Amino acid sequence: MTVSLGHAVWRALAGALVVAIAAGAAAQTSIALPPAQTGGGKPLMQALAERHSTRSFAAQALPPQVLANLLWSAFGVNRPASAGMGGRTAPSAHDQQEIDVYLMVADGSFRYIAKPPHRLERVGTADLRAGADSQGLARAAPLTLLYVADDRRMTDRDDESTRRFYAAVDAGAIVQNVYLFCASEQLATVAFISVHRERLAAALGLASTQRIVLAQAVGYPKERS
Ligand SMILES: Cc1cc2nc3c(=O)[nH]c(=O)nc-3n(C[C@H](O)[C@H](O)[C@H](O)COP(=O)(O)O)c2cc1C
Repeated sequence: MTVSLGHAVWRALAGALVVAIAAGAAAQTSIALPPAQTGGGKPLMQALAERHSTRSFAAQALPPQVLANLLWSAFGVNRPASAGMGGRTAPSAHDQQEIDVYLMVADGSFRYIAKPPHRLERVGTADLRAGADSQGLARAAPLTLLYVADDRRMTDRDDESTRRFYAAVDAGAIVQNVYLFCASEQLATVAFISVHRERLAAALGLASTQRIVLAQAVGYPKERS
């Protein structure tokens, strides 16, 4: 199956890397990502010194390698030999790894599958960015990440407010990974809570156990220094 991803970058991804998996009548699309390049980047102290929020973005999408590096930095698997799916680049309470990273781009929405070899799974074909939040941040950026907690991965020992607390803290660790990656790569980013959760949850077909915790817009800065 050929997948039309619209934008040139996504077309490049589709041409080189798309694997289409027919699932009954519906077709699910899985998009391979290049392995993350884990050897580069600015020194940590320099990235920390340069970390900041930016709210205006150039239209240019992220190249596949930058996207792969970004997602791995966010919540990729950095210790595949560890139990379960492996250790991750961000910590999580009880190592529950309950946050899923969703992507909204011009060509649709995707879920990041971190288990090596990491990849994207298409969730929908509609561009959900316009109207996704009250500030127009998602519309302004080529990519918005959504951090979605799934109660199914959280223990019943914890009550609802504890689970929400853990999910917020765990999403915050991922947010900071992305901020530092963006500082290292001179990308623009801002975390935001002003997201229309219910509307997006419906559009993404999230389960009743899933909650959008936080969003983060990413792109190249409008004014490049
Ligand atoms: C949990 C969280 C929620 C945020 N929500 C928003 C938001 O809804 N809208 C926004 O413009 N910025 C939001 N921000 C970005 C903050 O406003 C920003 O980090 C703060 O002003 C400090 O600026 P700096 O990141 O450049 O240091 C959020 C940041 C965090 C960590």
